[in-house]
Amino acid sequence: MKKIIGLTAMVAFLAVAMLAFAAPKAPTEDITIHMEGAKKPAVVFSHAKHASVASDCKTCHHKWSGEGEPHKCESCHKAKKEGKKLDLKNASHKTCRGCHRSLKKAGKKHGPTPCKGCHKK
Ligand code: HEC
Ligand code: HEC
Ligand code: HEC
Ligand code: HEC
Repeated sequence: MKKIIGLTAMVAFLAVAMLAFAAPKAPTEDITIHMEGAKKPAVVFSHAKHASVASDCKTCHHKWSGEGEPHKCESCHKAKKEGKKLDLKNASHKTCRGCHRSLKKAGKKHGPTPCKGCHKK
């Protein structure tokens, strides 16, 4: 009987431990961001290329608790501004282009700042 209880406890412990280690990883494949009705060419985003500049996921996924998959920006930032929530265009430009611009200003390695650098045909 003791053995069975011990085994059950161990299985339960392992299950909890596995859940704890199953924290989501950033996708390795590129993600194409293109909101509905977008006029500019789609933006291709690579987590891999940003891993060293933004190791804190919350730099971009600013409302993420760290559990489960982060929600898409678009799920909160819509085509039109809603209260304090910027529209997707301005939310993206502030986060993405904002960082590229400030790194450029600081003379550091940065991402593209001209429109065509992100909205590639
Ligand atoms: C430089 C900005 C940035 C950083 C830093 C970042 N992400 Fe992302 N992530 C994005 C963008 C943009 C998307 C595309 C989805 C969207 O439109 O919101 C995305 C999508 C994802 C998705 C897929 C969600 C879906 O519904 O398709 C996961 C999972 C994810 N990120 C996890 C992470 C994790 C984990 C980290 C930290 C290790 C991280 N991200 C860091 C910008 C970022
Ligand atoms: C769960 C909803 C939610 C998600 C998902 C979300 N945001 Fe936000 N965001 C908000 C809200 C609400 C605000 C208003 C200010 C606040 O509460 O922080 C905001 C504000 C912002 C701001 C303005 C911050 C400032 O300094 O004024 C930026 C930029 C932004 N979000 C970018 C993004 C980007 C980029 C993504 C995706 C990587 C994203 N957000 C995902 C809800 C969200
Ligand atoms: C914290 C700063 C930071 C944020 C936030 C950030 N970037 Fe970048 N980005 C960089 C840096 C630095 C590079 C240069 C990386 C390199 O060349 O290794 C880069 C490179 C890029 C590139 C060029 C990649 C290539 O193929 O050479 C694109 C496109 C890009 N970023 C798009 C985005 C988008 C879209 C977002 C928002 C969802 C974003 N970035 C948010 C810092 C940032
Ligand atoms: C650092 C990357 C980056 C740069 C540079 C950038 N954008 Fe964007 N832009 C985005 C992202 C990400 C989105 C949201 C995803 C989408 O729908 O394309 C977006 C959305 C938009 C949208 C709304 C969607 C659409 O296509 O109608 C417009 C308009 C836009 N950008 C125009 C511009 C213009 C004009 C410039 C140059 C002055 C510019 N962008 C520079 C990343 C960038």
